[in-house]
Amino acid sequence: MKHSSESLEIKEEKIITSLPYPTGWFALGESSELGHGKVLPKKIMGKDLVIFRTHSGIVSALDAYCPHLGAHLGHGGQVKGELLQCPFHHLCFDAQGICSQPNLPKAKSWHVREINGMILVYYSGPNKINPVWEVPNLSSEGWTKPIVHNFHLLTHPQEVVENSVDVSHAAALHGFKSMNLIDKIKTEDHKLNMKYKFRETLDFAGFRQNAPFSEFNITSWGLGYLLIEVSIPVYGLHSRFSLFTSPTEKGYSDLRLVFSACEHFDRKKMHSFLGIFPHSFVSKLIFRVMVKKFITTLKEDFVIWENKQYVSQIFSDGPLLEYRKWAQQFYNY
Ligand code: FES
Ligand SMILES: [Fe+2]
Repeated sequence: MKHSSESLEIKEEKIITSLPYPTGWFALGESSELGHGKVLPKKIMGKDLVIFRTHSGIVSALDAYCPHLGAHLGHGGQVKGELLQCPFHHLCFDAQGICSQPNLPKAKSWHVREINGMILVYYSGPNKINPVWEVPNLSSEGWTKPIVHNFHLLTHPQEVVENSVDVSHAAALHGFKSMNLIDKIKTEDHKLNMKYKFRETLDFAGFRQNAPFSEFNITSWGLGYLLIEVSIPVYGLHSRFSLFTSPTEKGYSDLRLVFSACEHFDRKKMHSFLGIFPHSFVSKLIFRVMVKKFITTLKEDFVIWENKQYVSQIFSDGPLLEYRKWAQQFYNY
């Protein structure tokens, strides 16, 4: 019992000392969750929100509590054409939060984008400011249908992006070998990029073998959307792992991992034996293995993230100082 109360104290201390909410674009959920006429309650940056899709397909995100008498619009609210009807007294709000009854204050609306199968909202701090940058829409042509995994963790988006820049932990924690930098960290406004490659040692039928090099192209748009493009050039394999990290309440974040791979690769380059199976069968098998491996690696990070403290004063360690300097801009409010 002593042990569990001690760890509870550590977690409480971690929450108190955790980083503030950063500005930028953050995912609230998948587009597929929100069909036409559907209403969902959501939580982000310690705030309760309601999201809904009108019958014509417009997605809106509003502060959840009805300005009339405070009912939660996401619990029992209904879409009526292009409006959201409050369950309590049936007042209606449009996608901008304007009430159909004159003189009633507007429900605060959030800037929304639907990009790469995700619904994102813009958080600008306590003062509502229009978005100052955008997240790109990636082409999905020639890419497999995305596979999504959701997690809820005691962590912060800054820690998640930092992990991809902190190359020195990759060998120690994940056991990656022969780490080489391809392109050093580059930052430009809200965007960060870094490229490196490494290989792993695999156990195969009792023999230790070197796997081929995997190249990682890391791009982060703000702290909420991290894209990790993983290629294995000798196999002609290209894949994308997107990590959307959204703070929900103090200390905690929702993390959404979206995987997709380029459909075209030569399965015979991996092993001539694979050439006898249909391409769709081999790709399904390989992509499943890739996702499983990525999640196993991610879970090694989860243990660290959920139990670590944020150290604000760091010593020069490769790209970390530059990363921390870049991340500062998301707290300027
Ligand atoms: S509380 Fe929403 S209409 Fe009254
Ligand atoms: Fe990691």
